[in-house]
This record gives sequence, structure tokens and C-alpha cells, in this order.
Amino acid sequence: MIGRGKHSENAILVVDDEPFILDALSCLLKDQGYPVIACCGARDATKTLESLRVDVVLADIKMPHVSGLDLLEEIRREHPEIPVILMTGHADMNVAITAVKKGAFDFIVKPYKSVHVLHSVERAVEYNRLIRMERDYKRMLEETVNERTKELADALLMVRSLNNEIVQCLTAVAEYKDNETGAHNIRIGLYSSIMAQALDMPSDFVETISFASPMHDIGKIGIPDNILLKKGPLTPNEFEVIKTHTIMGENILKGSRHPKMQMAARIALNHHERWDGTGYPKGLRAEEIPLEGRIVMICDQYDALVSRRPYKAPMSHDEAVKVILEGDGRTLPGHFDPKVVEAFSVTAPSFDRIYRTSNPEGERQSL
Ligand SMILES: [Fe+2]
Ligand SMILES: [Fe+2]
Repeated sequence: MIGRGKHSENAILVVDDEPFILDALSCLLKDQGYPVIACCGARDATKTLESLRVDVVLADIKMPHVSGLDLLEEIRREHPEIPVILMTGHADMNVAITAVKKGAFDFIVKPYKSVHVLHSVERAVEYNRLIRMERDYKRMLEETVNERTKELADALLMVRSLNNEIVQCLTAVAEYKDNETGAHNIRIGLYSSIMAQALDMPSDFVETISFASPMHDIGKIGIPDNILLKKGPLTPNEFEVIKTHTIMGENILKGSRHPKMQMAARIALNHHERWDGTGYPKGLRAEEIPLEGRIVMICDQYDALVSRRPYKAPMSHDEAVKVILEGDGRTLPGHFDPKVVEAFSVTAPSFDRIYRTSNPEGERQSL
């Protein structure tokens, strides 16, 4: 038997146009400890459902204006978690079947027996409790998933920015030994990215090359200062030593299982190879050279031409483009992959913009 006060959380909405039945049902349920909201018509009931929490609806089928069946339909649509018990004065099987088809939780024939009403209400309250519990559980699960997804996204963002910082630190180590600036390495990343896009490479290639290419000269860390920083021309032996920065770079970067680091190792090794086979360290030719090596090679060349060096003045953008496209005796068009040169000729204005934006001294503006 249900005790008084046991159901103080479960509000029962009773809807009947006959005041006597409304009172009797309300008293019956209140006696069992249910908070009861009594409405004398379906319209009142609809308003109540909009503003108050209701756990179970007990409604008469035959009411003026809006019938219990119409109210049932509305509740199924707007508040599907609320079970509806319908009551009728006639034991009409067709009405009962219609009510059940429309989703009534139970069906009670008047004159009702209190024990039937209470039993039905108790089951409906339990049903509603389970539905709400399931809904709350789903909501909690969703919130947890959203929270975890956000945490993962934040962690990924942090790992990415950490990666970029590590790369900057790595390249800075080599920069300390070299005349090239950090801005040079950052520019190589930007040039490579637009070249890869111009070559219609997939977005993961574009992202990977812009991450990996700033490390192209990392191997310079292993070149003795007296050779790396020598002001005058290098002897053939010294140049042989300089060439090893490609192999040392590969040795520093290789062995990773991450595609970005694997590409960084390939770029370090191949960024001085030339399309016509006259480059180093292996003298690879044409497509023996990985595409990323061919791209970085032309980017590095452009940046070297337009930058000031202790031993040379900077070239203008137009001069540098002309040297790459037509050669100057030292640099030859045959050094470059024709497909990459074509992409360079299309994207050259962006190279100029990148250089002007990232060169802190803006030294070429004075040219
Ligand atoms: Fe290099
Ligand atoms: Fe470089």
C-alpha cells in the first residue's frame, strides 16, 4: 500500500469536467501523498503542462470542447515522457482500443474502483520515473562526452602548439650557428605551403610540409664554425663538409613514426638535390628527388637570392624570379622541377609579400 507523503515529488494532473469526480479523484490521490493539480477541462490542463512539472495525467475522455483523446494526442506530441491514463463512463471497447493506439498508458472505466486507479497511477509514476531517469542519464552522458571531446580538442591544440614551439627551438639551435635568421626558416614554411597548394597537393601534405620545411638546415648544427661562418670562398674540401649538413639533418630527424618528422628528414636530406642531377648529397635527379625536396629547394633558393648575406647584397624580387626562371649562369633553370617552377611563376607575388611581411629589417624596400 502506498503511504502518505511517499509521492510528494510526483505531481498528478487530474482532468475532468465533472466537479464531483474531480474532487473525489483529487482526494483519493492526495490521501496517498501525491501532489495533485486539478483541472476542469483540457484547455486548463494544457496551460498547466506548460508551466508545471507533471508526472502523470489522469483524464476523462468525454469532456466538452477538447476531448480526453485530443488531450492525449497533444501530450504524446509535446510531453512524450508523461504517461496518460484515460477514464470513460462507458465500457466501450472501441474507445479503449483507440486510446491505447494513440498511446494511452492505461484505461479505466467509470465507476472506477479506487484500488484500480491507485494501481494504475502507481505504475504510471514508476514508468515516468524510469523515462526521466533514462533521459537524465542520456543528458549526463552527452555532457560527459562533450566535456571529454572539448578536453581532447584542447589537449590536441596544446600538443600542436607545443610541437611548433619544439620545432622553433630546434631550428633556433641551428640558427645560432648560422647567419640565417629565424625569419628565414619561418618563411620557408610559408613559401612551401603556398607552393604545395599551387601544385594541388592534398591538405595534409600542405600542413605537413609547412611544419617540416623550417627544419631543412637543422644539420648545420654539426658543421664546424670555421667552415660554416667562413667569410671568404670555401675550398673544395670545406664545401664537401658543408654538404654533409643534409645527411646530418636527416640523421637528426629520421627514425620517427610521425609522417611530419619523416617528411622533415626527407627535406633535410634532399633540399640541395637538383632536377638535373647536379645537386648533393646523392646527385639524385628528377623524380628520384621527393617532391617536398624539390619544393623546398626552390623556396630556399628564392629566399637566399633576396636576402642580404655578409658576402652579397640582396636581389630585388623581380631579379630573383628572373634568375630562377631563366638562370644566371650559376643558377640554371635545369636545377628545378619544371612543374615546381611553373607553380613558382604563378605564386611568385606571394613570395614577395611573405618576404616583405616577415623580414623585420625590410631591407629590400630600400632597393
Ligand atoms: Fe641547406
Ligand atoms: Fe635555408
